[in-house]
Amino acid sequence: MTTWQLGDVAVGRLGFGAMRIKAGPDRPAALAVLRRAVELGVNHIDTAAFCGSANELIREALAPYPADLVIVTKVGPGTDPERGFYNATTAAELREQVETNRRQLGVDRLDVVNLRITGDGSLAERFGWLVALRDEGLIRQLGVSNVRLEHVREALAIAPVVCVQNSYALDRRGDEDEVIRFCAEQGIAYVPFGSIADAASSAAVDAVAAARDATPQQIRLAWTLHRSPNILAIPGTGSVRHLEENVAAGKLELSATDLASLS
Ligand SMILES: NC(=O)c1ccc[n+]([C@@H]2O[C@H](COP(=O)([O-])OP(=O)(O)OC[C@H]3O[C@@H](n4cnc5c(N)ncnc54)[C@H](OP(=O)(O)O)[C@@H]3O)[C@@H](O)[C@H]2O)c1
Repeated sequence: MTTWQLGDVAVGRLGFGAMRIKAGPDRPAALAVLRRAVELGVNHIDTAAFCGSANELIREALAPYPADLVIVTKVGPGTDPERGFYNATTAAELREQVETNRRQLGVDRLDVVNLRITGDGSLAERFGWLVALRDEGLIRQLGVSNVRLEHVREALAIAPVVCVQNSYALDRRGDEDEVIRFCAEQGIAYVPFGSIADAASSAAVDAVAAARDATPQQIRLAWTLHRSPNILAIPGTGSVRHLEENVAAGKLELSATDLASLS
């Protein structure tokens, strides 16, 4: 698997998104998926405290963590017993979310924390609060999520940004190619989410998949990785078979003809 330098650590370009793994009756399957991911060489796992039981499952499956494993969490959205789901607007709320992620994952310092925002407003104040938590030693590196290009520039003017995590897929590109280019120029990882979820069937994808003896989901993942060397995939699955397919997709070479027909 090829790698990318996520700030000061190298990670494989095919990671794992933990949002959809669940405790309850699915717990054994979730633990098996996480352990198999690490066995297959995945060393970049994306999670968040507000994603249900993901942190707790990661800790149970993988702690003590392998030295090269990078766990990326998100703050901004949170859950509270009284308010339910909310978006942090104060330094105290962001600190509480960072503390919750540390506690659930069982680590003193979070590897990477993304500030996930909603809307077009400035992220400067919230990002500054996270920089203060980084300087306190609670976080090693920072990223941003669900952002526009101007937000990435805004954050970069305050502190280093190691990753940008946005929604991006073969048939849902929006203005993201510009963000990807900018991130590549700056040495920032671009981490698309939702690259295979809910994709409508496509004759072009199906044709490349048939020619490559691959599944349409593998082709979609491979396509994202071929867009730029700074792209890191984090497909989520609760199935070992799908995980294995996704890791294999990380090594799939698409030809210029394949890419042209997909684009
Ligand atoms: N920053 C944000 O705002 C944000 C938002 C959403 C997600 N995320 C992150 O991005 C990660 C991925 O997002 P996502 O789960 O929404 O989208 P995704 O990874 O594009 O798609 C996941 C869906 O695809 C299915 N799938 C996975 N591999 C497959 C395969 N090889 N063949 C067929 N189906 C397959 C999964 O079902 P099975 O379980 O049946 O395989 C699941 O329903 C999340 O885990 C989370 O870490 C971030």
